[in-house]
Amino acid sequence: MSPQSEEILLRCCEVTKRFGGLVVLWEVNLEVRRGSLIGLIGPNGAGKTTLLNVISGLLQPDSGRVEFLGRLINGLPAHAVVRLGIGRVLQIPRLFPHLTVEENVLVGVLFGRRKPPAREEAQEEARKFLTLVGLEGKHRERVGKLNTQEKRLVDLARALATEPRMLLVDELMSGLSLVEMERYTTLLRRIREQLGVAILWVEHVMEAILGTVDEVVVLDHGAVIAQGSPAEIAQDPLVIEAYLGTGAREVLGAHMGYAGSS
Ligand SMILES: Nc1ncnc2c1ncn2[C@@H]1O[C@H](COP(=O)(O)OP(=O)(O)OP(=O)(O)O)[C@@H](O)[C@H]1O
Ligand SMILES: [Mg+2]
Repeated sequence: MSPQSEEILLRCCEVTKRFGGLVVLWEVNLEVRRGSLIGLIGPNGAGKTTLLNVISGLLQPDSGRVEFLGRLINGLPAHAVVRLGIGRVLQIPRLFPHLTVEENVLVGVLFGRRKPPAREEAQEEARKFLTLVGLEGKHRERVGKLNTQEKRLVDLARALATEPRMLLVDELMSGLSLVEMERYTTLLRRIREQLGVAILWVEHVMEAILGTVDEVVVLDHGAVIAQGSPAEIAQDPLVIEAYLGTGAREVLGAHMGYAGSS
């Protein structure tokens, strides 16, 4: 059963962002409900990462509002946004390479929470999240020695260790094999089911997104051009032609199990 509820965690209202003369986000409206898993897709340069940056406080919008649990959060610094419950997983993790895996996750426990636990409990917490992402045997290793995939998992564990109510994930799967992708989609589902964390997930790998999420939001040139269930998006002619390319219908249809359904 989906842990999604009707309560709205995040609401972006008419968010606009410009870089000089370039409009990168144009009056974007977006809602994320508690426990939901939302895919954010769109071509290169559509504004996906910029939207995550605005939500997480790394960038300020030129106009519009970002609300989290009914509270206006644009204008807050990024560390304050983390403590309110919005975690962020970057495409290229920014970790401390000379610290161990566990120490990196401890940073999340001790500095990312509004009320950090005592040191001993913090260590237990760090291990709990390392186990969740499948890195339990690696806690003493230096992060600098890990491969790219393992670093992403450390970053995910670090973000979870801040106890977010919502996780922003930017392209977790680039460069992964199908088997590895399957592992990540299973993990994201488990995170939202076990922890009840809502996930706003940017990904280029369409099959992974469409087979996993509750809802898809499509961004193009900074504007939301489609929004709906994976089935609706996979059959939306505009989305298919503009973003998935011709021939994608068959590929998606076969993958999603609705080939020939329209
Ligand atoms: N700091 C910046 N200064 C100027 N322009 C920027 C800046 N950051 C992003 N842009 C521009 O804003 C647009 C949207 O970029 P963004 O990184 O949000 O796209 P994206 O959808 O994440 O793309 P990708 O799929 O390639 O990651 C692009 O045209 C990009 O060149
Ligand atoms: Mg991006």
